[in-house]
Amino acid sequence: MKKIVFATNNAHKLQELRQMIGERYEILGLADIGCHEDIPETGDFIEDNAQMKARYVKENYGYDCFSDDTGLDIDALNGEPGVKSARYATPGHDSEANIDKVLTKMQGVEERTARFRTAIALLQGDEMHMFEGKVEGIILTERHGTGGFGYDSIFQPIEGDGSTFAQMSPQEKNRISHRGRAVAQLIQFLTTQD
Ligand code: IMP
Repeated sequence: MKKIVFATNNAHKLQELRQMIGERYEILGLADIGCHEDIPETGDFIEDNAQMKARYVKENYGYDCFSDDTGLDIDALNGEPGVKSARYATPGHDSEANIDKVLTKMQGVEERTARFRTAIALLQGDEMHMFEGKVEGIILTERHGTGGFGYDSIFQPIEGDGSTFAQMSPQEKNRISHRGRAVAQLIQFLTTQD
């Protein structure tokens, strides 16, 4: 079985990918290869960050690797929080503070269109392959639902029945989500290789 690293410490993301990819690849997480340091994510775009993480693993640990990075682009905020989505309000990953900041900035704003975008960078040997998934939606004026994470409770995808991501089951969300779509492309690519 070919070994490939998914540059994440998120056990949930790893589990999901292992289930989707089948028998052909052994997917290793960062902990599995003894990588416990913070990998720099200092790019101006999510694509840069995804590539940076994949290169870091290849250069320091020698494995083929893929890495994902996601941002929420809100049109009325000129694309913010974008690449800064995780740390929009504070240096920590405080989702509630991030949502509060978005809602405050969007007070009285009528144009509420936004999209989540996920970039996946796959580094195989010295070849970099990029995959993207996105989902269009609108930013609500208050939170709805308690599931999911991040900005889910204020993001209502255009496709669907008017629920926010936080009101959907994980399966419903994955079917149309930015990450679900990017991962589907990656899997398609990996599973159709020789
Ligand atoms: P990451 O690149 O997957 O770590 O995502 C960066 C940040 O974007 C997260 O910390 C969340 O704030 C936000 N985010 C990513 N994916 C989602 C999602 O599916 N729903 C809501 N927020 C998300």
